[in-house]
Amino acid sequence: MGKYVVTGSASGMGLAVADKLRAEGHDVIGVDLKDADVTADLSTADGRARAIRELLAALDGVLDGAVFAAGVGPRRGNERTTVEVNVLGTTELLTALRPKLAAAGNAKVVVFGSNSTTSTPFVPRRAISLLDEGNTERATKILRRRGPLSGPAAYAASKLALSRWVRRAAASPEFAGAGVRVNIIAPGPVLTPLLKAQLEGASGNQVRSLPVPVREHGTPEQLAQWVMVMLSPAADFMVGSVVTVDGGTEALLRTKDWPSPMPLKRVPKMLNGLRQAKGKGQVADYSDA
Ligand code: NAI
Repeated sequence: MGKYVVTGSASGMGLAVADKLRAEGHDVIGVDLKDADVTADLSTADGRARAIRELLAALDGVLDGAVFAAGVGPRRGNERTTVEVNVLGTTELLTALRPKLAAAGNAKVVVFGSNSTTSTPFVPRRAISLLDEGNTERATKILRRRGPLSGPAAYAASKLALSRWVRRAAASPEFAGAGVRVNIIAPGPVLTPLLKAQLEGASGNQVRSLPVPVREHGTPEQLAQWVMVMLSPAADFMVGSVVTVDGGTEALLRTKDWPSPMPLKRVPKMLNGLRQAKGKGQVADYSDA
C-alpha cells in the first residue's frame, strides 16, 4: 500500500479523497488547520515551513502521491490569505516534497485548480504573473484595486497562477522527467463548506447566476472519484492536464476558445521549445516500436 499527503484533508473534497485512499488501505498524512495529522496554517510562511518540516519528518521513505486540496474561497477583504493559501500553500509544499515523490519512481500528484480560471471576468493579468513568481504582496495590492470584484478576482488569479506554475513544473525534467506525474482538477460548483459559505455570502447571487448546463452542483464524492483515477496507473501517460469537472459551464462559456490552433506568432517560441526539450532529453524512446 502507498503513502499519500493530502492537504485540506479535514473538509470537503480533500476529506473525501483522504477517506477513499484510507478505505483502499493507503497511509494518508493529512494537512489542515485542525483535525489533521499535520496541523498548520498554510496562509503564513511560518505555517508552511512548519508543515514542510513535519511532513518530511513523518516521511521516512518514499511518497507515492500527493493531493493539494487546501484552499480558500473568494471573499472581499481576504485577498492576501486567498493567494497565500491557494498558490504558495501548494507550490512550496510540492517543491519540498518533490524529492520524496521522485524517489517513488511513479508518483502521482493532483492539484485542485478551479473552473473560475476560465469563467471569471476582470482578472488582472499582472497579478497572475506576480503570483506565478510567488510575489503575493504586490499581487494583492493590484487585486484590491478591483473593489467589489476583488474577492472573485483574487480567487481566479490565484488558481490561474497556480495552474500555470503547476503545468510548467509538471512537464519539466524535475517532475515528468523524474517520473512524477502532476495534473490539475478544475471543479465547478461542488457542494462543500467552501461553496455553502459563498452561497450564503455577498457573492451568493453571482454563484447562482453562473450557468451549469446539467442543472445541478457536483458532490465531493464525484470529484474524489476523479482524483482517484488521476492517482492511478491510468495517469501514467498524463502530465500537466487540466481536468475540468463542472457540469458544462466551461464548455458553454468558452466553446470556441480551445482547443485552438497554434497562432503564427507563437511558432518561433514553439520551435525554440522543441530545441530546448530535445537538449534536455525530453523525447520518447521508440526503440521498441
Ligand atoms: P473546503 O472548505 O470544504 O475544504 C478546504 C480545506 O482547506 C478546509 O479543510 C480548510 O480548513 C483548509 N484550509 C483553508 N485554509 C487553510 C490554511 N490557511 N491552512 C491549512 N488548511 C487550510 O473546500 P472544498 O470545496 O473542498 O475545496 C477544495 C479545493 O477545491 C480548494 O482548493 C478549492 O479552492 C477548490 N475548488 C472548490 C470548488 C467548490 O465549488 N467547492 C470549486 C472549484 C475549486
